[in-house]
Amino acid sequence: MAGHGDFLWQFLTNRDSVGAVAPSSNGLGRAITAPARAVAAPRRWLEVGPGTGVFTRQLIAAMEEDDHLDVVELNDAFCAVLERDVLPAAGDQAVLHAGSILDVPLPGAYDAVVCGLPFNAFPTHVSRAMVRRLIGMLKPGGTMSYFEYAGIRRVRSVIGSATLKRAMFRHEAFVNSLKRDMKGRRDLVMMNMPPAWAVHLTKEQ
Ligand SMILES: C[S@@+](CC[C@H](N)C(=O)[O-])C[C@H]1O[C@@H](n2cnc3c(N)ncnc32)[C@H](O)[C@@H]1O
Repeated sequence: MAGHGDFLWQFLTNRDSVGAVAPSSNGLGRAITAPARAVAAPRRWLEVGPGTGVFTRQLIAAMEEDDHLDVVELNDAFCAVLERDVLPAAGDQAVLHAGSILDVPLPGAYDAVVCGLPFNAFPTHVSRAMVRRLIGMLKPGGTMSYFEYAGIRRVRSVIGSATLKRAMFRHEAFVNSLKRDMKGRRDLVMMNMPPAWAVHLTKEQ
């Protein structure tokens, strides 16, 4: 099973796409997957950026007979971990799509999207394209859940370069526009390193 050392190594060698030094906690996993698990079965779920599968394991544990999970992961090492240690528990109810969420063909439409992508690490236009695709694949009334570390944009704005400050400003405006356009709520999860917000955005019926 992959450990924190493997995750840290992937961060060090793929900093821009991994975006975190350690996997999320189970507590953050429970908060992030709550709307997906609350949908009545049979459900179609999409998970993007699963890494070593903290959220994936929780979705698989909650699976009922006709549920289906599509998983999209860019990093080859994480794909290997998922295929070896995580996805076999779901049998043919979970399918791994190795590649970028910007490119891989997906069947859609989903009752819920669980997203581990590090939006704050990407240029705003890239995050925007990703979010547009994810929301486009949600059924009306479906929820997209993602997380962001508490205060991350403020910290980067204070200690970062002028370029990073401008990027964080654009990102803040983007996140605020999402919250204006969709019904949103967020839960603070203290039991994570660092503490994080689980953000849930629900598409209009
Ligand atoms: C912050 S890690 C989160 C991992 C895991 N969900 C967790 O919380 O422990 C971000 C994950 O997104 C993946 N990722 C980054 N860019 C991606 C893309 N364009 N398409 C799919 N996955 C991507 C990374 O490889 C990594 O597994």
